[in-house]
Amino acid sequence: SEYNTILVEQRGAITLVKLNRPQALNALNREVEKDIRAAFAAYDADPSQRCLVLTGSEKAFAAGADIKEMQPQGFAEMYLPDWFGGWEHVSATRKPWIAAVAGYALGGGCELAMIADIIIAADTAKFGQPEIKLGVTPGIGGSQRLTLAVGKAKAMEMCLTGRMMGAEEAERSGLVAKVVPAADLVEEAMKTAEAIAAMPPVAAIAVKEMVNAAFEMPLAQGLRFERRLFHGLFGTEDQKEGMNAFAEKRPGNWKGR
Ligand code: HXC
Repeated sequence: SEYNTILVEQRGAITLVKLNRPQALNALNREVEKDIRAAFAAYDADPSQRCLVLTGSEKAFAAGADIKEMQPQGFAEMYLPDWFGGWEHVSATRKPWIAAVAGYALGGGCELAMIADIIIAADTAKFGQPEIKLGVTPGIGGSQRLTLAVGKAKAMEMCLTGRMMGAEEAERSGLVAKVVPAADLVEEAMKTAEAIAAMPPVAAIAVKEMVNAAFEMPLAQGLRFERRLFHGLFGTEDQKEGMNAFAEKRPGNWKGR
């Protein structure tokens, strides 16, 4: 394959990406960032692909950014290339994607999962932001996205103590959409991906944009943003098709426009 650190396969309309650095519990070094960026850009650009599932191994989704790679760096080495800034390209993915998490999702691994539109967790999943134990802090969005997901109390506690959160607590706290038995993780994530892939794609991207707007805009602006996108969908063939199909009691046959 064209990638060293990930495995990519297309299963129908779903792109399945598997982190593949087992010797380092899928620690996210610069090569992983480059590979993920390229795979996600290819997914976004391919009209045959409607959803993406990112997963790791049974033991680790990803045990963090690569500590050995960061250890010798100084301020200028981090600041000049805007270390970790490249992950913003992943958060700019327009089409929906799911993180399917088993085992450790720590530091950058937890942060990468939180960039996903939906996290589905195996019952073995363990989320944490232990960077403080290394003398640093989250750097790929953890302090922001964890706080938005679970609220200040748990985010502060987790980032200050490095405590891990298990799958059940993560579901209860709003971090993950659903918890499934570890053996069924990828299959369950694929089912959710297929349900999304079966939806009209323009509306799917609109949903993603407007839900994300809730994290970026004041409510009044977000409501207007939602309504304008909603109005815009009345310019699509899929809106006519969707509403005709409902009246005719049949499934919609989407054009993607
Ligand atoms: C580099 C890592 C790594 C990491 C594990 N490994 N995590 N290498 N970066 N983040 C490597 C180990 O060094 C080891 O390699 C191999 O993977 C297996 O790990 P073990 O520790 O032997 O496994 P185990 O005893 O089962 O413990 C699992 C673990 C532990 C609890 C997940 O590996 C761990 O604590 N990892 C670090 C977790 C962490 O602090 N993550 C946050 C990173 S900082 P060898 O060669 O020894 O066999 C981060 C920063 C984000 O993400 C932004 C701010 C800077």
